[in-house]
Amino acid sequence: GAASKGEYRHFMLKEIYEQPAVISAALEGRLSDTGVLVESFGPEAATLFARTRQIHIIACGTSYHAGLVARYWLERYAGVPVQVEVASEYRYRHPVVPEDTLFVTLSQSGETADTLAALRYAKTLGYIGALGICNVPGSSLVRESDLTLMTRAGPEIGVASTKAFTTQLIALMLFTLALAKSRSDAPLDAGEQGEIVQALKALAPICQQVLALNDEIEVLSQAFAEKHHALFLGRGAHFPIALEGALKLKEISYIHAEAYPAGELKHGPLALVDSEMPVISVAPNDDLLEKLKSNLQEVRARGGQLFVFADKNVGIHAHDDTQVLHLPHIHEALAPLLYTLPLQLLSYHVAVLKGTDVDQPRNLAKSVTVE
Ligand code: G6P
Repeated sequence: GAASKGEYRHFMLKEIYEQPAVISAALEGRLSDTGVLVESFGPEAATLFARTRQIHIIACGTSYHAGLVARYWLERYAGVPVQVEVASEYRYRHPVVPEDTLFVTLSQSGETADTLAALRYAKTLGYIGALGICNVPGSSLVRESDLTLMTRAGPEIGVASTKAFTTQLIALMLFTLALAKSRSDAPLDAGEQGEIVQALKALAPICQQVLALNDEIEVLSQAFAEKHHALFLGRGAHFPIALEGALKLKEISYIHAEAYPAGELKHGPLALVDSEMPVISVAPNDDLLEKLKSNLQEVRARGGQLFVFADKNVGIHAHDDTQVLHLPHIHEALAPLLYTLPLQLLSYHVAVLKGTDVDQPRNLAKSVTVE
């Protein structure tokens, strides 16, 4: 049943392994051969999306990181300007809301106090509507939103969010495609839309291949157990994936971790790099690859120990100071989903080595329903 760990030692590990199945569930019945079925978001969706000229996304924690990934997707593929903010800041400032702005909340539980307060506040600010992307049917967030899309991850017990995050990314890619389809001036043409749809349909088995790297990731994790700090690097839509990787490590292994957009390294964090600072980077095959490679060279030149998760085709290979795990090639649009998985497994194994309470980390709650 949902509340049993089955063959797994922790709920977190079980939930990591459920991802291929829940990713398929999140796509079920929402795609045609060529695009997304816009009515999946509700009967009003097509009208609202056609009117949408700006988007404000509000969330907390891991859900906030999903929103940061979505900004790259929505601007690139749907051509809509996006702002993303944590709910606890948004709700206490005085946001200026341009005409025809859609408000979007992301929440696993649908009960996070700050996110709900932000939604209620937003309703007084003149948005054209509120879309809630959520994992719990019937939650407050779902009841109070105009449009909803359920992420269908099933119950998530581990405090550190895993499958809820990747299914949020699926939901956000569906949202991106739906918005692109509803707008005549979207940068994404029908051909590219079809390619992403086919890539979505092929995603679950590729995730399975990445999870099969588990034993190698477990070996890598030994290098972290005695460390006090770690630095995560990514560029573009993979900067938020680096943020999420660092959050996972902090939450369950209690190792201080920071994430930086790799191009910003030289403006400060490079001063921290020495042989005691492991640097983790994700290197998918995208436009920013060559830039990322030179950022990694900056780390190497300072004696940093690199751990790189790289597309098998990009020509990043292991050296004395660089450990590399190769991932299968994936459509660029979906790479953030795939590169999340090894970072989840890495944190999990570091936490197990350190003997922390993986499913119930100290001081944290699964759902923060009071401010
Ligand atoms: C808590 C949890 C996090 C989660 C955040 C937002 O801090 O420990 O895992 O990301 O709340 O929760 P939500 O249910 O709104 O996604």
